[in-house]
Amino acid sequence: MSGAMSHVLVETRERVCRIELARPEKRNALTLAMYAALGEAIAAAEADPGARAVLLHGARDCFCSGNDVKDFLERPMHGDDSPAFRFLRAIAAAKKPIVALVGGPAIGIGTTMLLHCDLVYATPAARFQLPFVQLALVPEAGSSLLLPMLAGYQRAAELLLLGRPFDADKALAAGIVTEIIPESELLEYGREAALALAALPPASLRLTKELMKRPRREAVAAQMNDELRLFGERLVSPEAREAMNAFMEKRKPDFSRFD
Ligand code: COA
Repeated sequence: MSGAMSHVLVETRERVCRIELARPEKRNALTLAMYAALGEAIAAAEADPGARAVLLHGARDCFCSGNDVKDFLERPMHGDDSPAFRFLRAIAAAKKPIVALVGGPAIGIGTTMLLHCDLVYATPAARFQLPFVQLALVPEAGSSLLLPMLAGYQRAAELLLLGRPFDADKALAAGIVTEIIPESELLEYGREAALALAALPPASLRLTKELMKRPRREAVAAQMNDELRLFGERLVSPEAREAMNAFMEKRKPDFSRFD
């Protein structure tokens, strides 16, 4: 089993494809290899007539700490053919319903990927954060369009500009989360929801999802491309190097020399 495979576990049972992020030692930070495995897992579930719903989760105490910052520094590739973008395109275009379960941190792409899921359940201890500006980047995954639409401009601006962590209640109010579920029940509750989706008439389910997503599909794709271009430029900027080196060196970043 390769490293990436062991960090992304996939199992299809009772018509539910369960995708688990399993890199607890790095708080489920996503490497290029993990993005590739995630993109493949979504594509395989889409193509598998035996899978009718996807259940995406991490550990009880950590969903995903975002892109691996070390990877950002060492392999700052972010073109439209990068594994990260291929994963985002796959999750944004998925025709089958996706249920996501969030316990603990959901940072950066750990939060933005949720905007493409259909049902999002979080524990009271879930902590969300969109620290793109703090990392001298720009938002991705269409979040600069989807979040203002979902939460209203002012609420989205607070989350995307200040980039501070926010709790499950705030995520619920912003429309990112469907419902808050006690930690001890999260996995069972999510599996139950995925099984319920998998038992529904599949064509009707797919068409209903498509009807809801279609009006903004082109706008989201265009925004994702614009974000990607700017994100790639920012990623190799001196500001971003300072932000990411500071994280790896466990110190506060200093942006005072930039204008
Ligand atoms: N990329 C690379 N490594 C990461 C990481 C990330 N996004 N998030 C956590 N890690 C690593 C830490 O460097 C640490 O590694 P070490 O044990 O070798 O020192 C390990 O995972 C545990 O992280 P730690 O910060 O000690 O855990 P915590 O429970 O105190 O905090 C988080 C967890 C997720 C709140 C915190 O790690 C964090 O803020 N991560 C960065 C999130 C981020 O900025 N992501 C980028 C989004 S675009």
